[in-house]
Amino acid sequence: MSLSDKRILLVVAGGIAAYKSLELVRRLRERGAYVRCVLTNSGAEFVTPLALSALSGDKVYSELFSLTDEAEMGHIQLSREADLLVIAPATADLLARMAGGQANDLATTVLLATDKPVLAAPAMNVRMWLHPATQANLAILKERGVVLLGPEDGDMACGEFGPGRMSEPMEILAAVERHFANGGVLAGRRALVTSGPTLEAIDPVRFLSNHSSGRQGHAIAAALAAAGAQTTLVSGPVSLDDPPGVEVQRVNSADEMLAACQAALPVDVAVCAAAVADWRPRHSLAGKIKKGDGHAPAIKLVENPDILATLAAAGPARPTLVIGFAAETENVIEQASAKRLKKGCDWILANDVAPGTGTFGGAENLVHVIDAQGAESWPRMSKAAVAQKLSSRIAEALGAG
Ligand code: C5P
Repeated sequence: MSLSDKRILLVVAGGIAAYKSLELVRRLRERGAYVRCVLTNSGAEFVTPLALSALSGDKVYSELFSLTDEAEMGHIQLSREADLLVIAPATADLLARMAGGQANDLATTVLLATDKPVLAAPAMNVRMWLHPATQANLAILKERGVVLLGPEDGDMACGEFGPGRMSEPMEILAAVERHFANGGVLAGRRALVTSGPTLEAIDPVRFLSNHSSGRQGHAIAAALAAAGAQTTLVSGPVSLDDPPGVEVQRVNSADEMLAACQAALPVDVAVCAAAVADWRPRHSLAGKIKKGDGHAPAIKLVENPDILATLAAAGPARPTLVIGFAAETENVIEQASAKRLKKGCDWILANDVAPGTGTFGGAENLVHVIDAQGAESWPRMSKAAVAQKLSSRIAEALGAG
């Protein structure tokens, strides 16, 4: 998404994560945004005004009582001319001063004087983050409409592990894009996406599942959210990060996935990208099955509910657009067209998962979109690009934008 002509005021406070803000400035500028930076005194201990200035292509503002700055651009104007204020990193101290309504340096003055939306990416030590004082400040700021992004769990520069790491620059960039896309083509629409495998318990330690990575489904949820849709992602167990701006419901079994999908209705569009296990053990045993006297246990399977077909036949709650996937190894278009009719969905995205195509678990996908009119073949592209193209097609079909 282009951020061309968007004006972003980036407040850089004093934390080790400040080095990531340099990268953020680059990424914002790459997308065409104007970036102006306010650097706090402690921020300047971690990054130099010169580095920020070189990357933003603009002067960096630090002093509240600077005659030259005030003559060029008053601090009130600085806070009002931006379309969005981003604080990265937002330290415990800066958040506390904001929550208290203080204006004792340029950053807090600008933040108090602004009438523009504020997005903050906190970064601090785990214990500082978990401290009731910080949590109370965050609650105040949230209530005032400050959008908080992160922090992430992880190893911290201080040697501890837990929540406190600033979100990565690309995550912050995605949040900025989302901000400007609200009012995007799918704003006001609701979307439901299923993703990943399901896991069907045999006993407390064993299960049936499959190799689905969830990459395509997660990318679709991210693209729909980036286009402004209020998006729920119902995902089986995957090792992917939650897509930004998406409400994620984690489930294990197909039964749980179906229940979570039904709870998410009504939606305008449902995209079923999950590789739902076709069968589950008839009985999931409460205790671990013991290895016997050389006889393997017989596991009786029963069929799982078909989530796609259920959503497509949901009567008045049926989403306007129901979209499924069909992973086929031969006669891809033919098989997928038959599946579209059988499942009662509007579109099927057929993909070739024959061994050697690299589709399953890979980063790319080769897709044919099948609707009532016929098949449209898309060139091989990244799963993110498929998601983007699908999101545009959905917006068109819903008459959005
Ligand atoms: O029948 P098959 O598994 O090939 O169909 C694939 C499509 O149906 C995918 O969109 C998948 O998410 C959906 N599906 C489902 N529930 C099932 C089986 C498949 O939603 N139990």
